[in-house]
Amino acid sequence: MPCLLGIDVGTTGTKALVIGEDGRARGSATADHPLTTPRPGWAEQDPEEWWRATGAAVRAACERAAVAPESIAGVGLSGQMHGSVFLDESHRVLRPAILWCDQRTAPQCERITEAVGRDRVIAITCNPVLTGFTAPKIVWVKENQPEVYARVRRVLLPKDYIRFRLTGEFATEVSDASGTSLFDVPRRRWSGEILAALGIPEEWLPRVYESSEVSGRVSAAGAAKTGLKEGTPVVGGGGDQAAGAVGNGIAASGAVSISLGTSGVVLACADAPVMDPELRTHTFCHAVPGKWHVMGVVLSAGGSLRWYRDVVAAADADRARRQGVDPYELITAGAARAPIGSEGLLFLPYLTGERTPYPDPDARGVFFGLSLRHDRRHLARAVIEGVSFALRDSLEILREIGLTIGEVRVSGGGARSEVWRGILSAVLNVPLSQAAAEEGPAFGAALLAGVGVGTYPSVPEACARAIAARRVTEPPPPQRVRAYEEHYRLYRGLYPQLRGLFRQTASVVGKGSA
Ligand code: XUL
Repeated sequence: MPCLLGIDVGTTGTKALVIGEDGRARGSATADHPLTTPRPGWAEQDPEEWWRATGAAVRAACERAAVAPESIAGVGLSGQMHGSVFLDESHRVLRPAILWCDQRTAPQCERITEAVGRDRVIAITCNPVLTGFTAPKIVWVKENQPEVYARVRRVLLPKDYIRFRLTGEFATEVSDASGTSLFDVPRRRWSGEILAALGIPEEWLPRVYESSEVSGRVSAAGAAKTGLKEGTPVVGGGGDQAAGAVGNGIAASGAVSISLGTSGVVLACADAPVMDPELRTHTFCHAVPGKWHVMGVVLSAGGSLRWYRDVVAAADADRARRQGVDPYELITAGAARAPIGSEGLLFLPYLTGERTPYPDPDARGVFFGLSLRHDRRHLARAVIEGVSFALRDSLEILREIGLTIGEVRVSGGGARSEVWRGILSAVLNVPLSQAAAEEGPAFGAALLAGVGVGTYPSVPEACARAIAARRVTEPPPPQRVRAYEEHYRLYRGLYPQLRGLFRQTASVVGKGSA
């Protein structure tokens, strides 16, 4: 049976996944790559490491799936969004890639907004210019490393650099291009107006495809590195959020997905580029032709519980590991024993600043309401409840702007926990459904490949045929839902009271130089 391959260039590693036409995973493998933070708030990676990891992961996944290279009908690419790879005229990497979570570019965001005009930025890109996005990184290099900037001839997103190494083509697709601040999101093409205002030549940017279109074929060099067959078609693919949503069956308006990874994303598909007038959510092209998606991004979702595990509960986590137990199981079991609302303890999950609903790089995490009664069970529960409240903030915005909230589908590491699913379903007061087998953005990328090579007639059809049965977590009885509602209202009151203090603290600590 012909198979499909999805490759996801993530932040911590690159994953390759081989699926059959029925959507069943045949084999997968992940190869890690390091992230460097040369200064506080900076985040960089060596694109060569992604290529090394891609070669290793693809070979290992095909071996585990026991498929011959000629059985792979098509390849789809997905990856961390917004990162920038700078190439010179010989197509060599000029400096480490600057990543989505890098916060160095606040002054550049302001200057871009001024140069283009705020109203035009929003009308064209459907979003404000944010520190994580691509354009401010290009301007940062121009202002801070002019000798590098003088040699730039190409700028690529992470997965599109892998496409270049795999196929020799300079190409991207609409969903990832949407996160660059250089893209006309309603018209699904580069914005000549923004490029002209910033003096960025359009030749630097890759050709844009729809996500399921074939963008190139595996070259001899790509085949040598990965073991794939030369000539295998490679489709556009998608930014990790768009591809992950496709893998979760979000291909038409109505269904909403929540991914609980390091970041937490609440995403809805829309028939038009609808926007939150207050710009608290992102509006991007979806990986489905003629569709857009609106998403709220909580920067530290699973990341908050990881921080809790590694810092607050480190000793418990070590003990669990020694007993062969997953530390998260121990932590969530403890959380389940604390009462709703953690006896007045609230947690704001803004450990790395926030995007939705408060685009604020200075916001920070808070435990509020500590008393002598609180122990680690309360702390763990407060973290899970706080992240769930933050996700509700995003869902409320999607409701406010008139998007239909039908079935809500959860995925990601956090969604594997029954305790977390139960709390989230109660906080949102909606049933949560979950695919039986879940493989993340690489799965969506493989489905997009299947559409591109004709295995499936369309993205919605691919989702209908390939996504396995779901189990559902129902919200608790109304009285418990009401208890969460009261705590959510308290949670909502905290940030507005603290916003000024966050800003003052940032200036005291000395942003970027502490
Ligand atoms: C989305 C975003 C992250 C990255 C890394 O806007 O910044 O989800 O794509 O996963």
